[in-house]
Amino acid sequence: MKLIYLGHAAFLIETGTHRLLFDPFISPNPLAEGKVAVANLKPDVILLSHAHEDHIADAVTLAKQSGALVIANWEIIQWVLAQGIQNVHPMNHGGARRFPFGRVKMVNAIHSSSFPDGSYGGNPAGFVVTTSELSFYYSGDTALTSDMKLLAGDPPLRFAVFPVGDNFTMGADDAAKAATFVDTPEVIGVHHGTFPPIMIDRDAAKQVFLDAGKVLHLPEIGEEIEIA
Ligand code: NI
Ligand code: MN
Repeated sequence: MKLIYLGHAAFLIETGTHRLLFDPFISPNPLAEGKVAVANLKPDVILLSHAHEDHIADAVTLAKQSGALVIANWEIIQWVLAQGIQNVHPMNHGGARRFPFGRVKMVNAIHSSSFPDGSYGGNPAGFVVTTSELSFYYSGDTALTSDMKLLAGDPPLRFAVFPVGDNFTMGADDAAKAATFVDTPEVIGVHHGTFPPIMIDRDAAKQVFLDAGKVLHLPEIGEEIEIA
């Protein structure tokens, strides 16, 4: 499995058979300019954790271009449908579903969720994704929550994608605790460095994880990580 970091909280997972795009916020992100070609992403599936602009900005454009299946909570799917996208699948917290690319479970996140116009976006979520190869957890924007302990081992998580930027979400300290809660050895850190309130000390963040017996990856935008 390959993970390609697209900046902010956006990333693409290549399973070998499918391209899964999470939380696309690329065209409005000046840091991604020249490093990520939105037109080349060609996702088969787009998963949206919540309705904030910094997670859905390119979702409708990419869904229209690619015909990708959009997976999100009920409220976000109604918003997507209203813009003429018909290949959708709504979920809600606690629910799991098998798709051709693997199993997705929508899990709790502690955050807020409204659309850019202020309308209600449902509750924010994370996803546990299981392919034929491995399982991983993307928490979405969230605080540390003891609910994460419920995810440990069921299924075993090869890696997790956590926000580490602090201020709006977990910082590195809490993200390292989250890695322990869900019992995963490696974390891809996202949701940092994009805006002034979420700048981090990269070396300090990595050290926090090492001290917890975990590994934190902080890929550059456009960087690919091979995970076996
Ligand atoms: Ni958010
Ligand atoms: Mn966010």
